[in-house]
Amino acid sequence: MRHEIVEKNVGLLAVLILVVISFGGLAEIVPLFFQKQTTEPVEGLEPLSPLELAGRDIYRREGCVGCHSQMVRPFRAETERYGHYSVAGESVYEYNFLWGSKRTGPDLARVGGRYSDNWHRAHLYNPRDVVPGSVMPAYPWLFDNTLDGAHIGDKMRALQTLGVPYSDEQISGAQEAVDGKSEITALVAYLQQLGTVLEDKR
Ligand code: HEC
Repeated sequence: MRHEIVEKNVGLLAVLILVVISFGGLAEIVPLFFQKQTTEPVEGLEPLSPLELAGRDIYRREGCVGCHSQMVRPFRAETERYGHYSVAGESVYEYNFLWGSKRTGPDLARVGGRYSDNWHRAHLYNPRDVVPGSVMPAYPWLFDNTLDGAHIGDKMRALQTLGVPYSDEQISGAQEAVDGKSEITALVAYLQQLGTVLEDKR
């Protein structure tokens, strides 16, 4: 009988539905606030150096994220190929995330240290020189463009306000670390540190 009252009164039904759904939502969302695992850096995580940070900007500019993910999923097929699956604590200093969702090429979350600097340079100059049949575009202009470090300190300061633990010393030395370096040097420096914090690599 009481159920009939609810069923015949749309307003009441809507309110009660909302109450029930919000309980479900709370049960899922509230525990996340207390899970440090998602907000605390993994042990040994350092913010990117000024040169690596400049390289990351080039990675974004060139749209590498459109073909490469940086997210090893916790499945055997992935961990056998790439190494330890990605954990949230590796990404806490990342603004914005470059996890990606498209894999035309392999995942790059753990590519750091897998190849030599020279391999990366040859590959980015013309992928077909080292991987016959590769469909990855060539990026020869990265070898000609040099970096101007004028704004790298500002970028680091902005990241600092978001909680990335840069020291004022690191920021004041940033321009010098970047000025005049070629874009390819910065991009390779960025690639070579990807995923190197977690031990279990292949
Ligand atoms: C159109 C898609 C596409 C774009 C854009 C692209 N790549 Fe690739 N990438 C690939 C493919 C396909 C491969 C696999 C063949 C090869 O190694 O060349 C690859 C391979 C790689 C590898 C070797 C990975 C491994 O584990 O063997 C690296 C490193 C890489 N790309 C970096 C980059 C960077 C840096 C950029 C941006 C400057 C970029 N890629 C842009 C498609 C792409």
